[in-house]
Order: sequence, then C-alpha cells, then structure tokens
Amino acid sequence: MRFGHFDDEAREYVITTPRTPRPWINYLGTEELFGLVSHTGSGYTFYRDARFRRLTRYRYNSVPTDAGGRYFYIRDGNDFWTPGWAPVRRELDRYECRHGLSYTVITGERNGIRAEVLCFVPLGAAAEVHRVRLTNLSGRPRTLQLFSLAEFCLWNAWDDQTNYQRNLSIGEVEIDGSAIYHTTEYRERRSHFAVYAVNAPLAGFDTDRESFLGAWNGWSEPQAVVDGRSRNSVASGWSPIGSHQLAMDLAPGEERSCVFVLGYVENPADEKWERPGVVNKARARELLARFASDAQVDAALAELKAYWTVMLSSYRVATGDPRVDRMVNIWNPYNCMVTFNISRSASYFETGIGRGMGFRDSNQDLLGFVHLVPARARERILDIAATQLPDGSAYHQYQPLTKRGNNDIGSGFNDDPLWLIEGVAAYVEETGDLAILDESVPFDNDPAIAAPLFEHLKRSFHHVLANLGPHSLPLIGRADWNDCLNLNCFSETPDESFQTTGNRTGRSAESVFIAGLFVHAAPLYAALAETVGHAGEAVAAREHAGRMARTVLAHGWDGEWFLRAYDFFGNPVGSAACEEGQIFIEPQGFCVMAGIGVAEGQARKALDAVKARLATPHGIVLQQPAYTRYHVELGEISSYPPGYKENAGVFCHNNPWIIIAETVIGRGEHAFEYWRKLAPAFREEISEVHRLEPYAYAQMIAGRDAPRHGEAKNSWLTGAAAWNYVAITQHILGVRPELGGLRVHPCLPKELPEVTITRRCRGAEYRIAIRNRGDGGAPALRVNSTPIAGTLVPWAPPGTVVEIEVEV
Ligand code: GLC
Ligand code: GLC
Repeated sequence: MRFGHFDDEAREYVITTPRTPRPWINYLGTEELFGLVSHTGSGYTFYRDARFRRLTRYRYNSVPTDAGGRYFYIRDGNDFWTPGWAPVRRELDRYECRHGLSYTVITGERNGIRAEVLCFVPLGAAAEVHRVRLTNLSGRPRTLQLFSLAEFCLWNAWDDQTNYQRNLSIGEVEIDGSAIYHTTEYRERRSHFAVYAVNAPLAGFDTDRESFLGAWNGWSEPQAVVDGRSRNSVASGWSPIGSHQLAMDLAPGEERSCVFVLGYVENPADEKWERPGVVNKARARELLARFASDAQVDAALAELKAYWTVMLSSYRVATGDPRVDRMVNIWNPYNCMVTFNISRSASYFETGIGRGMGFRDSNQDLLGFVHLVPARARERILDIAATQLPDGSAYHQYQPLTKRGNNDIGSGFNDDPLWLIEGVAAYVEETGDLAILDESVPFDNDPAIAAPLFEHLKRSFHHVLANLGPHSLPLIGRADWNDCLNLNCFSETPDESFQTTGNRTGRSAESVFIAGLFVHAAPLYAALAETVGHAGEAVAAREHAGRMARTVLAHGWDGEWFLRAYDFFGNPVGSAACEEGQIFIEPQGFCVMAGIGVAEGQARKALDAVKARLATPHGIVLQQPAYTRYHVELGEISSYPPGYKENAGVFCHNNPWIIIAETVIGRGEHAFEYWRKLAPAFREEISEVHRLEPYAYAQMIAGRDAPRHGEAKNSWLTGAAAWNYVAITQHILGVRPELGGLRVHPCLPKELPEVTITRRCRGAEYRIAIRNRGDGGAPALRVNSTPIAGTLVPWAPPGTVVEIEVEV
C-alpha cells in the first residue's frame, strides 16, 4: 500500500493523504540554517547547531505526535482549518504534500479555498521562507483571516526542555510593523536573535503563547483563531511565539500570496543596539528585503533547484527501471547530502541535543557525498583527522561547533582509525588531490603536534598492528563498528553506558571484523603511500595485510563462515558452537570485500551461509539466532529485544557490505536482490509495513524475530545512505574512481539488460553504455571505439568527453 507516489520529473515525492503511518519529513537548508519539515508542516528550525542555536520549539515523543511547526490557520466564517490537515485536523477536500530537494510544498483545499504553503531556505540566506498562496476557487467573494504561528525555542534546546525555573521568566520580543523579533537573552550574552515577518500589513499579532492559545487549548484550536481575533499580546516571560493575523478579501478566482520569513541574525558585539533597549534591526531588514516579493521568492527557488541539478549531474543512470533510477539519480544522493549536513544530530529520531559527529560515521558518510561536494569533503577530512590522538587512536565523537574531540565518550573503539584511511582514499580517488596528504594536521587539536595527513594514516594503520590479541587478531577495545558488541564492559548497573563504563583492561577480546577492515584498507593505504614516496611502507603494508588475511583464515574461520570475535575469555563469538549469535553479518561482508578466502573458497561459503541463515524478505539480519537473554560478556547487543537494532535487526548500514561482497565473487543477481530489498523506492509498495519515508533510508528494519518484522526505524541520518549508494553505483553498476583511472566493472542482474551512465569526474565526462547478457562473464570495454584490456579507463583531460561501451 502506498500513501503517495514519486514525481521523477519534478524530483519530488508526492504524499496524497495526511494519514501517513508516521510523520514523513524533509529537510530544508543546504548551508547553515536548517529546518525539519513533516508532511503536515510540523518540525523545527535551527542555525548550524541543533542544540545551541534552535530557533523554534518542537516536542519529541509528544501526543498527539508531531507537535509544533510552521502553522497557518485559515479562518473562513465560523470554520477554521490548516492546509497540512494537522494540527486542526478538519477534513480537507484535497490534500497534497510535495517533498522536493530542500523544499516542501503543502496544499490543502476546503470549501472552495485553496491554500498552498511553500517552504525552503534560499541559498546564501539564514532564513526559512514560507510562501502562503490562497486561491478562491468558489464563485463568490470570500473574506478570510490568515493566522501564522511559530513557537520560539529559547535557543539552547536542552535547557529549553529542562530549566523551567529560569526559562519561564526570560522570554522577550519586540514588534516592529509586520516583523516579530524574538530577543530572549539578547540583553546579556547573545548577539543573535530571530525574526519572523510577513510582507503585508497586519490585522493583529500575538507573541505570547497563552494569549494566542487560551490557557487550556492546544495547537488544534487556538482561541485567537476560534474568535477570529489576535490579542496583540506582547510576551513577557512564559513562552514567546510569533503569530501574524492577515485579513483578506478574495474575489471569485482571485489568488493572493504572502511571504513569511523566519530568519536568524547576528550582530557584532558593538552594534547590538539601535538605542538603549532596542535591538539593532538593520541586518534583519536587509534580509527581509531580499524576500519581500513573489518574484524574489521564485528566483530563489529556481536557484535552489539549479543547485541540485548541477550537483546531481555527477552520476546519472538510466536502467529502464524507474525505481533504480530514482534512487541513484535523486533520492539516495539527496539522503547522502542531508546526512553530510546534519551528521547524526537532528532527525525525528535524533533530538539534536544528544550526539556529536562520529569519527567512523563521518568517514563513512564521506563515501556517499565526496563526488557531490569534493571541496567540503576535503574540509571535513581535515577536521576529522585533527581529532585523532597521537597514538593513532581516535576520539569516537567530536563536536561540530568546536571541532574538538568529545571527552565524555573518549576513544578506544579500535575500528575508528581505519575508517580515516577509507575516507581519505575515497577523496583522493575522486579528486586526484594528492596534496591533501601533505597538509599539516594537528593531533588532538593541538597545533604543536601537527603532522602531514599521510602520517595520520600511518598511525591509523599501525595502531591496529600495535594492538593485536592472543590470536594476532586486532583487539576490539570498547567496541568496533558494532557499538553494541561490548566485550570488555561487563555492565551490571542500569544507569551506566555500555560503551564508556569501566572496561576491563585485559588484552584478550579480538575482532575478526576489524581484521577484515584492516585487510580491506591496507591496499588503499599502500597505494597512497606509494604516491607520496613511501615505497617501503607500501611493501610492508601489503605484507601485513597478507599476514592478517592468513590469520583470519587460520583463527577467524568457523568452518562455514567467518567468526565475529573472541570474547574476553577467549571464547568465540559468532560460531556454530555458540548457543545464540552463531553467525554475524559484519565479518562475512568485510572479509570478502577484502578478498579473504575468495581464491580459497571460504568467501563463497560464507555468503551462502548468509543467504541461508540471515537473509529475510526485508533484508539481511545482523545475526542469528537472536539473543534471548542478557549476556553480560557481550554487552548492549544482547540488551535489545530480539529482532531490534543490533540484536538481529536488519541494520541497513551493513547490508551493502554483503551486496558488495556478492559482486566480489561475481554474483550480480544476489547483489541486486539484496539491494532491492532495502531500497526505499522498492519498499514504497509496502509502505504500510515499512511505515517510514519511502524516499530515505532508515537505520534499521525490524528483523524476523521481532513482532513488527519489516517495520523501519530511525530514518534519514544513517550510514545506510552512503553504503547503499556505494553498493549500487560503484559495485553493481560498477563505476568507481581509482587512483589510476575510472574503473568500469558492472556486475548486473539479468533484469537490467541495458544501462547507460554519465559520470563526471576530475573535470571530464564519461558516457558509459552497458549491454548486459547477464551470464556473469568478465566485462569487455571499448573506449572511444577502441577495445582496451581490463576494466580501468585511464583519466581523460578535463573538458573532454569519453565514450565507453561495455559488454558484460
Ligand atoms: C549506529 C552508529 C554507528 C555504528 C552502528 C552500529 O549507526 O552511528 O557508529 O557503527 O550504529 O552499532
Ligand atoms: C549506536 C547504536 C545504538 C547504541 C549506540 C551507543 O547508535 O545503533 O544501538 O545504543 O550506538 O553508542
């Protein structure tokens, strides 16, 4: 069952009923100011940091759900309604929400009045624009009142939710014509404020929540709207809001639009005041003047659409299957960019107050957006690397505002350093920018101990070698990629963290996953070492990788699949000998991606075991059998009820490792089958089961042990976006940059017989036409009509077009 449809031409998902299973959201903003907007118009806005600079308030886990947002109430005689259906929830004659690339348009119709609300953040502006267009579709003149509503957050979102003894006394506003200024704390240390304005004269306004709502009402029936009359309230403490009242007479067929702007403004410390006690509004007025007319709004929206067109032109595909094309051309790269912008901070599952940027997460996210914004990827790499510690280990998270490592969580996740190699390699392969390896980058943000970026990679690599366990496999530390496999924690107290609590110091618990990642990263590292003249280091790295691969086959192979780990006591984890958790997905994926056991046959066996034991109609579960009780020696993984999260949920982040592994052994059918199971555009058909947005990846889909098998959770901000994109574009479609050229090595299923791809890279354009016989044979390439040996197409000079024909 669907709740809408894709409009590929417009690059929009069109939701046709407000009664989606859950709020289906979109993101506004591409630079500094961001908004989350659901299909009813709910959600919130923040400037750069969702915790410290939150403009509007939102109530997570509230009832009714999805409370707070940009609301426009239309009062028509004694009737009133909201175009997004909620919060008033009066039935609409027509409803539609179009979520596009960084904009959303919500249209509601009732009793012959159409209201269309367009929301977006223009490029180069710290403001959300809301254009409300009212049309009289009836044959008679109509008199309407339009009320806007935004509830201000008192900036620090955490404090805003907890510190009522202070906060209920500090709210302040100023009203200046049609502009409402939210100025709480501006009198003291803040030099920023918010403005909410409209380009039309007001019939009234409210800035005090209680005056607008009435003491006992919610957003569904504000007393001002019920009465058709704003109170002209001036907030003093309590809860400041911004609400404008506009009176409108519409002739039959007449259309009128008004532009609301919710902006964020900073003043230099010595220019805070216009006169004592009066905020300097000059910058705000400049901002408002940029979006004061319909024509300005149209131009800004066109500019935003063009920005996306250019960005998405770096990889375009036509496969004949619209679901594949819309994932690859539109929604998956969009998802990757949202994840880049927001990291893991603000979604409908991440509150924006909890987490910094993950070291491993950020490096992996990079794989999905490096070709879209290479310059920003470079900056991100240097920020991440600067939080690395001198011994090669890394802070697990860092704070986006300060770019410093987070001491609460610290380090000790032993996979972390290796992801830096993967991220840097992807960047250099995409751009050819070898100079980044010579950039001087601090350790632990201390410029006194800076070293070239290459040295950071070297310490990452050697950190693994310096931390091997009894089987010569890498020590796991607090956890590896699986944050919840805590083999040293032994936590028996509910209020402590599984990751950071009193870990035992024994050097015994080992990770086969890190071993696989090490063998995978080693050739990338070696190739980079060669380019900067460290040939000896390259030779050594390859030797270490060979040795580690042999160690995995000797001590990390269980007979039918790769083991997951050895626990603190030296017992195997993820072995047929275990009672629960006999086989895990992660080592099967990464060991095969690294090439371990491909020649010897273990790779195929491992992937067959995955198919037999872990594959479900909703994707590949993380492990089986699920843990049915808490295992203190394994940690958080066994804390989740069976089928959820790391305890045998379908973790969409690691499924692509199996997909890529299948292409390593040439099984395109299997790879595509797995990819399709997770791809939101394919799951759209079962939206009543999946329940989250059919245009964005979710972190997790409930596994087969869960009562709600197939239901997704934690959409939008997830490593699933980057890795699924890498799997389909670079391994199934098979086009990926390498140091020496563009690799074109498709591994396609029979159902994609003809595929064309346009890839822009390093200034040239590659037009690739693939004819796929589907027999799994090796691809044969012709480059500009001349056959070449192998599948590596040499880099062409910038500005040129290269025609590539591929027969598979
Ligand atoms: C979450 C974390 C990520 C981790 C994964 C598995 O997605 O952000 O760092 O690898 O869970 O535990
Ligand atoms: C990841 C996991 C989550 C775990 C958390 C701890 O986000 O997905 O289950 O609680 O890491 O850091």
